[in-house]
Amino acid sequence: MGVKEFYFTGGEPFLHPEIADILKEALKLGTTTILSNGTLITKEIAQRLFQISSQSKYKPEFRVSLESYREAENDLIRGKGSFKKALSGIQALVCAGFNPIITIADWSKYGRFTKEREDGFESLARSLNVPQLRLKKLPLVLLGRSAELIRPYRKDEQVTESCFDNFSMDNLQCATSRIVTSKGVFVCPILIGDQKAWMGWSLKEALGPYMMESPACYTCRTSGLTCKNDDFLSYETHTFQGGKELKILAKDTVRKLVNEFYATAAMQPQKELCCPSSYNPADLSHIPQEVLNISYGCGSPVTQANIKPGESVLDLGSGGGVDCFIAAKMAGEQGQVIGIDMTDEMLRNANASKEIVARNLGFDNVWFMKGFLEEIPLADECVDVVTSNCVINLSTQKEKVFQEIFRVLRNGGRFVISDIVSDKEVPLSMKQDKKLWGECISGAVTEKEFFHITKKLGFYGLEVVNRYRYKEVERVKFYSITARAYKYNKSKECVYSGQYAIYNGPLSSVSDDDNHTYPVGIPIEICTDTAWKLSNPPYKGMFIISDMQNKDVKISCGPQCC
Ligand SMILES: C[S@@+](CC[C@H](N)C(=O)[O-])C[C@H]1O[C@@H](n2cnc3c(N)ncnc32)[C@H](O)[C@@H]1O
Ligand code: SF4
Repeated sequence: MGVKEFYFTGGEPFLHPEIADILKEALKLGTTTILSNGTLITKEIAQRLFQISSQSKYKPEFRVSLESYREAENDLIRGKGSFKKALSGIQALVCAGFNPIITIADWSKYGRFTKEREDGFESLARSLNVPQLRLKKLPLVLLGRSAELIRPYRKDEQVTESCFDNFSMDNLQCATSRIVTSKGVFVCPILIGDQKAWMGWSLKEALGPYMMESPACYTCRTSGLTCKNDDFLSYETHTFQGGKELKILAKDTVRKLVNEFYATAAMQPQKELCCPSSYNPADLSHIPQEVLNISYGCGSPVTQANIKPGESVLDLGSGGGVDCFIAAKMAGEQGQVIGIDMTDEMLRNANASKEIVARNLGFDNVWFMKGFLEEIPLADECVDVVTSNCVINLSTQKEKVFQEIFRVLRNGGRFVISDIVSDKEVPLSMKQDKKLWGECISGAVTEKEFFHITKKLGFYGLEVVNRYRYKEVERVKFYSITARAYKYNKSKECVYSGQYAIYNGPLSSVSDDDNHTYPVGIPIEICTDTAWKLSNPPYKGMFIISDMQNKDVKISCGPQCC
């Protein structure tokens, strides 16, 4: 029947005396996951399973459920002594060489056990020497014991036909699987025992549709609940400042989950994702509403980019295209705008809107290309301006992105970037949260780090032209900033030839990125490259630059100067 994945659940699968042999057979056919409460996993059985696993075509996954990282809270729900037994089961699996997933019920919606849960699970996993913390959070289904402890579903908590409009049914567990039990086949593990969810005696019979009558379907629809393993997430070792080594999500994993996140966001507008970015309505008049519905920026970089007619603009992570279309009007018929994004669904939407924008403007100067920020598919020094709106935080290779921006910018070109930064380093538990990655939280660097990277890569004149508070998550404050900086390649011909600069004030003195200091009103001798920089944005108008050049005096300015 083409079954690709097997899940064993209970009761408790390890109660079955032949579980090891059953798993051995399943592992010949596909990836196999065992959902256990961990209490019956002994060292012996864990070692036997490791032996089986090393000789099998497919690998097993173990998921051990805990209610809490605190013994009392866990045992309140799962029974006295179950916490200690579950930990010993996890340890047995770890000692045998497995990296079990810990499943936790997410009570946060109902105001229980919310505080510091993930940190708690993280330190618990560390104390058990689990190689990587792999948490699967399952929202509570208000059936059985949860209905008694919290409340049953209300009448209005039911799925309707229209709530599946624009919803990918593949997200639901029941779309691709069935649960086989000794009492027949049910539509999904959540509804075992519900007679309306009984689908027949054989898998073949059970492949028909299910009416989704259970209120539990409401939880699946609203929370994205699926019992399938998350696309677990590969990690790599990263050495942080101070030599501390930690496992973090590998870059390909992040790319993949960001890609999935924005593929969904392209098809189903996500209101809660939109930051309040303020565009001038006049800049938007030629842009269809569909573009604005999927605009997920956190600022308005093009508004601050001072784009002139005829300039070429590159927008990184162009999404539905909003910034490209605003830039298109500014750059005019002689200019050109290129949007780069890795997500097909975003590119498809942007290309569909491009024709409407071209019709409204009377010219077509926008192109969308598939590509990565880290490997921009353009030649060196080919654009005047690079913009990006809430994207670079989504990359795990920020230095690489800024290197690429430097490479594609023409000499004297500028970037204007709106992005999310944090006031302190984002903790590991947040860096491992798939959803927070998509929401531009997990990948944010501190504002200090953002400046450090851009300066290190040679940009000058960095200024923050806008900053506002975005949100606070677990005591980390996040800000949206719009930053602008310039590229300048030192010229070979740069010399001192008698030119000087006088700083106009109002500060008593200022320094530039090349460590020249200019006290107000005092002429300071400068080289020809510095003269160019100080005469152009962002310094234009701040200095009086003498144009006097003494042709006889030509002292090389040297590598330390500019
Ligand atoms: C938060 S949305 C912002 C979209 C757009 N700038 C806007 O303001 O509406 C992030 C976009 O960046 C794209 N993206 C994220 N990481 C990327 C990468 N490494 N390379 C290319 N595109 C990326 C996503 O596909 C998504 O469309
Ligand atoms: S509870 Fe409903 S929506 Fe969820 S998996 Fe089962 S049948 Fe599907």
